[in-house]
This record gives sequence, structure tokens and C-alpha cells, in this order.
Amino acid sequence: MSNRMWGGRFASSPNAIMQEINASIDFDKRLYPQDIAGSIAHAKMLAKIDILSNNDKEEIIKGLEAIGKEIEQNTFNFSQELEDIHMNIESSLGEKIGDAAKRLHTARSRNDQVATDFKLYVRDVVDMLIEQIVALQSALLIRAEQNANTIMPGFTHLQSAQPVVLGHHLLAYIEMFDRDKSRLIDARVRMNECPLGSAALAGTSFPIDRDMVAKELGFDRPTANSLDAVSDRDFVLETLGAASICAMHLSRFAEELVIWSSAQFKFIQLSDQFSTGSSIMPQKRNPDAAELIRAKIGRILGAHTALMMVMKGLPLAYSKDMQEDKEVAFDAFDNLSLALAAMEGMVADLKVNEKAMLDAAGSGFSTATDIADWLVREANVAFRDAHHITGEAVALAEKKQVRLDQLKLADLQKIDKRIDERIFSILSVKNSVASRTSYGGTAPNNVLAQVKLWQDKLK
Ligand code: ARG
Repeated sequence: MSNRMWGGRFASSPNAIMQEINASIDFDKRLYPQDIAGSIAHAKMLAKIDILSNNDKEEIIKGLEAIGKEIEQNTFNFSQELEDIHMNIESSLGEKIGDAAKRLHTARSRNDQVATDFKLYVRDVVDMLIEQIVALQSALLIRAEQNANTIMPGFTHLQSAQPVVLGHHLLAYIEMFDRDKSRLIDARVRMNECPLGSAALAGTSFPIDRDMVAKELGFDRPTANSLDAVSDRDFVLETLGAASICAMHLSRFAEELVIWSSAQFKFIQLSDQFSTGSSIMPQKRNPDAAELIRAKIGRILGAHTALMMVMKGLPLAYSKDMQEDKEVAFDAFDNLSLALAAMEGMVADLKVNEKAMLDAAGSGFSTATDIADWLVREANVAFRDAHHITGEAVALAEKKQVRLDQLKLADLQKIDKRIDERIFSILSVKNSVASRTSYGGTAPNNVLAQVKLWQDKLK
């Protein structure tokens, strides 16, 4: 028997392998709420322009709602023979309400249908991700406020560079995630045009009301070009691009958590809830969640690359290649969502080891820049010269195996006689961070001011 949805001109049914490669129902079934919403909006519009009777419209809506419930309750019978979610639902509607169902596909095609369904789905994903990002930012903000005075080493090249406070470090991630959020908001604005009514590619001869459908579905307006509308997947690509950058940020932070929780650093301890043990080494507490978050970027960026490759050679308008947009995108969005949730959980209950951070902050001659700055400020030495003088002080401390603040004044004055005892007041890590008061700097007062701003912004 040929396919009952499109088999009019076919004498036999597709080969089993053809059916397998062609069908998308196994993964696009998750678009059922969007597909039903799109069909309801379309039916209402068809009734308004008198293509559907009011009675047929009511039957269609009732039938679609019943199908939605069946799918939700897992009692719906999905068929691979019916290829995709659109035809599975339409066919089931026919079984439920008879002939009225056959009128629903007037003035539309699966091409504009799938573009609309997927856009609605991605729009929901964007809203969910934004919410999750804000939740993560809020968790970070709580820890930033608690740690506005927690001194730790700041690194460049993963070498101890200058002391900073942990609150400042966490606020850096709040900034990154805010950019991620704003990229998603941008993408949402651009994607919010309704493709439905573009039909297969050319538009339709029926006097449809596209503004009405767009409004019903929460779009700002209908798309302006039918060829573009059915063949555009920019909305997925942009969201995957934003998702990739967000995943990259998560990965960097995860890497820091892995380093910080190691026995060598001991800066933090992840809670039992977010650590795992080893089946052979009883002493181990492994940061598996952080490691997995670190790894997620691969599949998320991979999805973006995969879809770029699908799209790059496609002539207008729709080609079946585009069905390959969904699995990778679903996987990427699912995993980013999971990673955001796991990161939020880890941040909320990790323990900070203030002593280990403070001890490390004082090592590696991390206040050397403060000596140079002091020479510039108090002794009017040019910075390049001050840098050189400080280098000698560091070499001396290294030779004597002491911290910079443990050097004797006499020794320092042998290097440069313009140094006096006031220099000791700037050599402690505490005074070092307190002095970084330039806008955007790590001084605890700055950090607390930023925390306040973020508390208002995230409210
Ligand atoms: N399952 C298809 C997809 O995901 C729906 C559109 C099919 N259109 C077509 N003309 N075959 O892209």
C-alpha cells in the first residue's frame, strides 16, 4: 500500500531502508506541542476567512487537543510510516474527526509547518536558557558577596600574578554569562517572525491572514519572503552559536573548579552532592560534574558546525537535508541546560578554603607590582626603572627563600636607596587588593559595589 498522506501517484510503498532514512518521527515527536499550537492557529485563521466552517474548526481544535493529551500520556501510537510529527498528528486527527481533518492542510505545507514548529521550539529553549543563566548568575552573586574579602592569587599563564579577591573572580563569570544572555535575547528578537503561510515555497493563492496567525503564536510579524521563510535555519544556528559560547564559558569555569578542588590547590571542596568517589581509591573525591561540564562544549559546538555544513550548500528553498537540523540541536540544547543546572548546583554548595587561598595568594612574589607602583608613586621613579629595581628585590627574596614582605629594609635600600620603611605597608596581599580601586579593579569595596549593582539587575 502506498503512503496514505502523499501516495496518490505511487504504486508501491517505500523500501524499508527508504522509510528508515526518511522518517524523523523518532526525534521530531518532541515538537508535538508546537505542531498542535501551529495547527490550531492555522485552523482559526482558515475559519476566519471562511475556508473552514466554524463547526469543522471546533472539531479540529478539539481533536488536536485530544491528540496532545494522548501524546502527553504516552498512549499515542507513533508510526514511522507516517514519517514525521506533522503527518502523524494529521493522520490521527483524520481517524478521530473524519473529513474535517482533510481540510486543515489547506494553504500550508510541511515546509512552513516545520519551520514554524522548530522556531517555536527554539524560542522556548531560548527562554529556558535565559532563565537558567539568571539562576546561575544569582548563585554566583551570593558567593561573590560572601567572598568580597576572600583573597586568592590571580593568575596569568596559570602562574601566580597578583592577588585578587574571589568575589571579583566570580563576578567575572557573571559578566560572561550576562553576555551569553544578551546574545540569546538578540537571537530571540531576530527569530520572532512567523513562517506559517509561506506554504511549500511560493506562498499561497488563498486569501490567508498571516498577521493573525503570527499574533496567535506570539510572533512579532509574519516573515516577508516565502522562499527565505521555509529555508531559513539561522534561528537555530544563532542559538547554537550563543549556546556554544555559553558552553565555552561554562567549560572554563569548570576547568577552574577542577584545578581548585585538586589536592595540590585545595582552594575549594565540592559538596558530596556534586562529587563522586572512586571504586578503587577510597581517598578520592572526583569533580566529575565539573569535568563533564568542561566536556559538553564539544557536542554543542559540534551541533553548530554540523548544521552549518548542512546549510552551506543548499539551494533555495527547502531540501530534505534540513531535517538534519533537529537531532543535533536537541542534543546541544538539552546538554547546555543540564550543564547550567549542574554548575548552579555546584556553585551553590561548594566550600571555600579561605586559608589555602590566602596562603597561595602570598606566594610567587605576587605583590611585586605593588613595589614598582610604590616607587613610581612615592619616589617619582619611572615605571620601567621601578620594574627593574623590583626585579632585583624579587631575585633577592628568591635567593633568601623569603616572601617580599620578609625582606629587610637595609637589604632593600642596598638595591635602591629611595626605598623607605613605608614600603612595608603595601607588601601585604590585603593592602595590595585594597589598593586596586580603579574602575573594574579587584578592591573589595569595588567588588561590593558591583555586587549591589548585580543584585538590582538580577532582581
Ligand atoms: N520532517 C521534515 C523536516 O523535518 C518536515 C518537512 C518535510 N517536507 C517535505 N517536503 N518533505 O524537515
